[in-house]
Amino acid sequence: MSKLIPPALGLYIHIPWCVQKCPYCDFNSHALKGDIPEELYIDALLEDLDSDIGKYADSVGERVLTSIFIGGGTPSLISPQQIARLLNGVEQRIPFSEGIEITMEANPGTIEAERFAQYVEAGVTRISIGVQSFEQQKLERLGRIHGKDEAVNAAKLAHSIGLNSFNLDLMHGLPEQSIEQALDDLDKAIELAPPHLSWYQLTIEPNTLFYYKTPTLPDDDDLWDIFERGHEKLNAAGYVQYEISGYSKPGYQCQHNLNYWRFGDYLGIGCGSHGKLSFTDGRIVRTTKTKHPRGYLASYQNMVKPYLDTEHLVADEDRPFEFFMNRFRLIEACPKQDFVDTTGLPLSTIQPTIDWAIEKSYLSETQTHWQITHKGKLFLNDLLEAFMAEEDE
Ligand SMILES: C[S@@+](CC[C@H](N)C(=O)[O-])C[C@H]1O[C@@H](n2cnc3c(N)ncnc32)[C@H](O)[C@@H]1O
Ligand code: SF4
Repeated sequence: MSKLIPPALGLYIHIPWCVQKCPYCDFNSHALKGDIPEELYIDALLEDLDSDIGKYADSVGERVLTSIFIGGGTPSLISPQQIARLLNGVEQRIPFSEGIEITMEANPGTIEAERFAQYVEAGVTRISIGVQSFEQQKLERLGRIHGKDEAVNAAKLAHSIGLNSFNLDLMHGLPEQSIEQALDDLDKAIELAPPHLSWYQLTIEPNTLFYYKTPTLPDDDDLWDIFERGHEKLNAAGYVQYEISGYSKPGYQCQHNLNYWRFGDYLGIGCGSHGKLSFTDGRIVRTTKTKHPRGYLASYQNMVKPYLDTEHLVADEDRPFEFFMNRFRLIEACPKQDFVDTTGLPLSTIQPTIDWAIEKSYLSETQTHWQITHKGKLFLNDLLEAFMAEEDE
C-alpha cells in the first residue's frame, strides 16, 4: 500500500435537541423536554474531543482544523455564551487554520437579532438557516415552528452582522406543492441573496411520521420540471451548482461539506456524530459516538469512557467505493492524485473499472482528472456498484 497523505481536518459537533420533531426529519434530533443541560453538554463535548485527541494522536498530531460545523438538531437553542465556551475550548485543543470556516445551523424560529450577532462574536463565521419554504401553509404542513416572516427576517439579519457567508436551506417537492409554488419559493430565496443555497428535494425517510402517514407529493414529471426550471433560475441568478443540492455564488461553497465529499478527514463529537481519520501508516478509521443524549451524557457523568459507540478500520477493498460515493456528489472534476493520496491505493487497483466506466460513457478523463458525465449521473448506482468490493462466496 502507498502511504496516505492525510487530507484537511474538519470537526463536526452535534447538538441533538429541537423544540419539536418535524414529521419528515430522520436526523438524530430529540424534542426538548424541559431545559437543555447546555453547560453539562458542552463539558461533555470538550471531554469527548480530549478523548479523540488522545486516542487518535497519531492522526490528529500537529494538524490544524480547517472547518467546524455545528449541526443538529437545532444548535441555535444553545446560548451564545456556551457556543463561545465551546469554540474557545476547541481552539485550545487543536489550532485553527487561518480563515477557518465555522458554520452553525439555526432554525429561524429560535433566532433573535441580538443572539445572532453574539454567535458571530463567539467565532461563528457562517450560519445555515433552515427556511424550508416561504409559504405559511407549507410551513405548517412541515410542522415547522416558524412562520414565513421569521424566515425572511432571519435572512435579512444574516446580511447585517458581519458573517463571511450564510446559507438558506430550502426544500422542494413538498406535500401538494405545484411547480409554480416550488419556483415561487425559490424566487423568494434568491431575492434574499444568500451567498449559498441548499435546495433539497423532500425525501420520505423510514422512521419519520411522513413515512407512516405519507402525504401526496408531486409526481416524477413535476419533480423533474421543478428541478430543471429551478436549476435554470439559480444559474441565471449567479448560483453555481457544485453538489447535488448545493448551489453557491462563486467562492462561497461550504468548505466543511466539500472536505467530506473530497474524502477528507473529520473528527465527530456529540451524540451520534461520525468521524473519519487517516493515519500516515495507511489506516483509515471511522467512528460513531453514542446516539441518545441520555446515554451520551451518562458517559460523561459516570465517567464511563469512551463516548465511542463504534470504531472500524476501512479495509483496502472498501476504499474505492467510499471514495467515489463521496466524490461523485460533486460537479467538479476529480484529480486522480486525490485518489492515491486519500485512499493510499495505487491507480492500478481501479484501472479496469475506470476503463469500463469510460467505455460506458459514465466517465471521461484527462491525463490528470476524471469527470463524471451526464449519463454517469443518471446511472450513478450502476457506476458506484462497479467500485464495490466483491463479496466473498
Ligand atoms: C439537520 S437539518 C436542520 C437544521 C435545522 N434544525 C432546521 O431544521 O432548520 C438540515 C437540513 O436538511 C434538510 N432536510 C431534513 N430532512 C429532510 C428530508 N427528509 N428531505 C430533504 N431534506 C431534508 C432540511 O432542509 C434541513 O434544514
Ligand atoms: S428542526 Fe431541523 S433537525 Fe429538528 S426535527 Fe426539524 S428538520 Fe429535524
